[in-house]
Amino acid sequence: MKELKKYLDTNQERFLNELLEILRIPSVSADPKYKDDVRRMADATAAHLSKVGVDNVEVLDTPGHPIVYGEKMIDPKAPTVLVYGHYDVQPPDPLDLWDSPAFEPVVKKTKVHPKGAIFARGSCDDKGQFFMHVKAFEAMMQHGKLPCNVKFMIEGEEEIGSKNLEEFCKKNKIKLACDVVLISDTSIIDNNTPSLTVGLRGLAYMEVEVTGPNKDLHSGVYGGAVANPISVLSAMIASLHDKKKKVTVKGFYDDVQKLSAKERKRLNDAPYDEKAYMKDLAVDALMGEEGYTTIERTGIRPALDVNGIWGGYTGEGAKTVLPSKAFAKISMRLVPNQDPKKIEKLFQKHFESLAPKSVKVKVTALHGGHPVVVPTNSVEYKAAEKAMETTFGKKPLPQRGGGSIPIVAMFDQVLDARSVLMGFGLDSDAIHSPNEHYGLFNFYKGIETIPYFYQYYAEMKRR
Ligand code: BES
Ligand code: MN
Ligand code: MN
Repeated sequence: MKELKKYLDTNQERFLNELLEILRIPSVSADPKYKDDVRRMADATAAHLSKVGVDNVEVLDTPGHPIVYGEKMIDPKAPTVLVYGHYDVQPPDPLDLWDSPAFEPVVKKTKVHPKGAIFARGSCDDKGQFFMHVKAFEAMMQHGKLPCNVKFMIEGEEEIGSKNLEEFCKKNKIKLACDVVLISDTSIIDNNTPSLTVGLRGLAYMEVEVTGPNKDLHSGVYGGAVANPISVLSAMIASLHDKKKKVTVKGFYDDVQKLSAKERKRLNDAPYDEKAYMKDLAVDALMGEEGYTTIERTGIRPALDVNGIWGGYTGEGAKTVLPSKAFAKISMRLVPNQDPKKIEKLFQKHFESLAPKSVKVKVTALHGGHPVVVPTNSVEYKAAEKAMETTFGKKPLPQRGGGSIPIVAMFDQVLDARSVLMGFGLDSDAIHSPNEHYGLFNFYKGIETIPYFYQYYAEMKRR
């Protein structure tokens, strides 16, 4: 492993420049206007895989964006690791809140990242993180130290729900057969406190439409006599939380798994600085479900958020209008054992029941995913734990992540493969926000840690 470390050290700058190059490609999956760029990013990913010695690299078309696949089979008796990541990114909006353009990466020092961080959309989520695996693979190949078979599957639709990947997995069970899935698309607690993600929340994403009168009306001629759909929608949304900030959707908590006092204590033993958390967000107080800590509110408790709301006149100046329609996007983060399909139905029924007679309501489910919990007594967890302990000098803490990666539950069900969620980002890296960044420390630490995972995993499997 010494020569390997030396290889990493001497190639640091090239690795960084290669990453900066792919960060310049605006592979925004949600917006059709970037379709060609997404394709270009898939091709660039494939080229990188081929260059470092991955075999049978393919860019596979789907009804949406392509899936990049490649493999290196060294020995049928060796365990097989499936590396999953995503090359698509979130839209960069709002553009004017970026200090430098989203697709023109720059390296700057910050308080949290004194050695520098790469500022660009996708730097942390997930280009910077999946690229660590490409470079770790390169290093292992250069030193004849690849102890496992490797399959790479890097998709272009994670940020829009991985619909086509789900189909692809179902149709390609043999191609994707593996002993473990290795994913870097989550965070560690901080750069001195390594952690492994042992839970992801599920998701049920809804859109609602409230219709009042059949056309936009003069708000003077009709105002005061006809229901305003924006006011009605606002009141309906406001009623989705009670005084104690519990979600009021009937049946919402029915299946929520309760943790023992001991498990809750263990979660809350993780370092967490509430003052720093609030300062980072410039808020004077936090708000959430009564009786739970912040770690619990994002880790083991479900939540409901309005992601967007629109309707009426929002242009320059004033227009006196009583609009016909109002809309909102509402998502629910789910925890074990909530079922996204069941929650969609409960939400729909509840939301419809809230509507006064003066309006009509339409509720649509957009996408969803199951929550995930990862056992900590498995071979793959132990190997990841030992790998991080080797490079950080500290045993990683098991931590529940608040975000979602819907495909992980699918890997479990469809491929019968467990995932290792060994991410290296920080929650403060502003993923999905303006000024997203990824620490150089994190990027290099990830590349250094990954080969140890392969080594320990192969050793532990052999025993
Ligand atoms: N990498 C994130 C998920 C994540 C971030 C998990 C931080 C844990 C910690 C992923 O790219 C993501 O953003 N997922 C979406 C879900 C998707 C269906 C849009 C999410 O969580 O909103
Ligand atoms: Mn991601
Ligand atoms: Mn994301």
